[in-house]
Amino acid sequence: MCGIVGYVGKGDAVPVLMNGLSKLEYRGYDSAGVAVYDDTSKNVNICKTKGRIQNLQDKLYLTPLKGRLGIGHTRWATHGEPSDINAHPHSSGKEKIAVVHNGIIENYMALKEELMDKGYKFLSETDTEIVAQLIDYYYSKDSNLMSAVFKVIERIEGSYALGIICSDFPDRIIAVRKDSPLVIGLGEEENFIASDMPAILNYTRNVYLVEDNEVALITKDNVKIFDNNGSEVKKEVFKVDWDIEAAEKSGYDHFMLKEIYEQPKVVKDNIASRLLDDGISLDKVKLDKDDISKIDRIYVVACGTAYYAGLVGRYLIERVVRRPVSAEVASEFRYKDPIIDEKTLVIVVSQSGETADTLAAMRLAQKAGARTLAVVNVVGSSIAREADDVIYTLAGPEIAVASTKAFTAQVVVMSLLALKLALELEKISIEKYRQIKTEMEKLPSLVNKILNKEPVIKRFMHKYIGSKNVFYIGRGLDYIVSMEGSLKLKEIAYLHSEPYAAGELKHGPISLIEESTLVVGVVTQEELFEKSVSNMRECKSRGAKVLAVAMDGNSEIRKYADDVFFIPRTHWMLTPILANIPQQIFAYHMALGLGNDVDKPRNLAKSVTVE
Ligand code: M6R
Repeated sequence: MCGIVGYVGKGDAVPVLMNGLSKLEYRGYDSAGVAVYDDTSKNVNICKTKGRIQNLQDKLYLTPLKGRLGIGHTRWATHGEPSDINAHPHSSGKEKIAVVHNGIIENYMALKEELMDKGYKFLSETDTEIVAQLIDYYYSKDSNLMSAVFKVIERIEGSYALGIICSDFPDRIIAVRKDSPLVIGLGEEENFIASDMPAILNYTRNVYLVEDNEVALITKDNVKIFDNNGSEVKKEVFKVDWDIEAAEKSGYDHFMLKEIYEQPKVVKDNIASRLLDDGISLDKVKLDKDDISKIDRIYVVACGTAYYAGLVGRYLIERVVRRPVSAEVASEFRYKDPIIDEKTLVIVVSQSGETADTLAAMRLAQKAGARTLAVVNVVGSSIAREADDVIYTLAGPEIAVASTKAFTAQVVVMSLLALKLALELEKISIEKYRQIKTEMEKLPSLVNKILNKEPVIKRFMHKYIGSKNVFYIGRGLDYIVSMEGSLKLKEIAYLHSEPYAAGELKHGPISLIEESTLVVGVVTQEELFEKSVSNMRECKSRGAKVLAVAMDGNSEIRKYADDVFFIPRTHWMLTPILANIPQQIFAYHMALGLGNDVDKPRNLAKSVTVE
């Protein structure tokens, strides 16, 4: 997904912009560019190119840009193919005004035609170029840049974070936000803009979080933020407490591997202050018996991996709390005219807190009167700010596109939530809770035990790397783990894989089982063991290879599987947290073995901020 960085200060802008762009690479992109004001020629000069940031670096080596004001962008194509021309920044005719943009201008076609009628010429197929040209149009009337920007935001519809510079104002960046994240970094005689924190963390930890419909005027010594009526808004400085190391690889070959290995800490952080002796404290979320009695319908809404974490939550709430819960993919939920009223609780789950469909689903629920509870990783993200209540997943920045530690954190939080509801509604006793609490407290060291067995999983990779099709099967919670395992393999190994409820195999997909098929059978739910292994046996007798994930001490499983990965024993509710980790490591090694770019898988973006 697109990324923005901007610099105004006493230093050289290009190194800051390039550093910022490299920190945004993880978001997924197909082209990159910078626009820099040149003090000598008094022009805004643009350098941009399709492909990796290294291509941009090479281009800048041949035609260097120098200046103390600049904006940069990584683009993930939405309007027009990835190309040099469509890359950002975009400019008005004579490169007087340059613009970088994240989001989508929905009415760009009508505005483009209007401008073309006035004689404006367009070079690219993008929606962004109309922003630069429209600013130019209003600016040409009275030479008031700020007022031109305000006029433009009255005309454009859609979502946007914008960084704007103009050669007539070499001391400033104008930044605008609506439905797309934007922060302003505060430095000494220098200030920054960025679509997300890692882009500026090397330079500052003090930021302003720009809200929707705000416009900022940023010079090297000053930042002024206005609402859409032009009134100045006073902001608190937000201190970013992430360790800069946390946003980098720390010696691991890939972000994904580093993030997999961070999971013991992530689990620990998520339970540390929440698992109390006499109950569960969920940050500032108030969910006592009285609150819960006002709720008669619960939805869990999310996308992708976060949706699977949501499914674990649904399963546990239904099974332990005995309250019906619907889990819905956000892009479906939004358009099905869901039944929502003031007695509805909508739990949204999102790592980024910016996923367009999840955010829109949450807003729709709020409009219909629902109470919303967000389970979010990114502090200050749109979902976190707009939800009625937030539980943060405390996973730190997740850089690899394929989610690992964020999923684990989401599952931990959903498990805590289910336990909290169960306690409040007296569905479990305090003694039972304390037993589960003891099991939960062991999780960080159990996760470590699994990580120590990475070489075992690597051996499985060598054995199964030639598989053409992979089925992931399981029942109950194991089925949900299978869904996430299968998604991970698709995302980074680009292998065709299907998750199936084990009992469904016979209803069709078993016809696809042949000798080159690998079946990953997850069997941690011991009450379902007999049923699950009988499905594994059916696959094996049709020539498939079977790789099982089972709990320590279950020697019986060896009869049904070619290979077994044993996870430490834990309470049945907690098995998804452990059983998923070998799936992550397996997908990681399969992707490496197949020569794929693990951290930046093809066609995928970290944060899907378009519908
Ligand atoms: O940021 P979110 O959690 O809302 O993102 C949801 C999905 O886009 C995300 O989980 C996606 O499926 C990942 N690529 C999974 O690895």
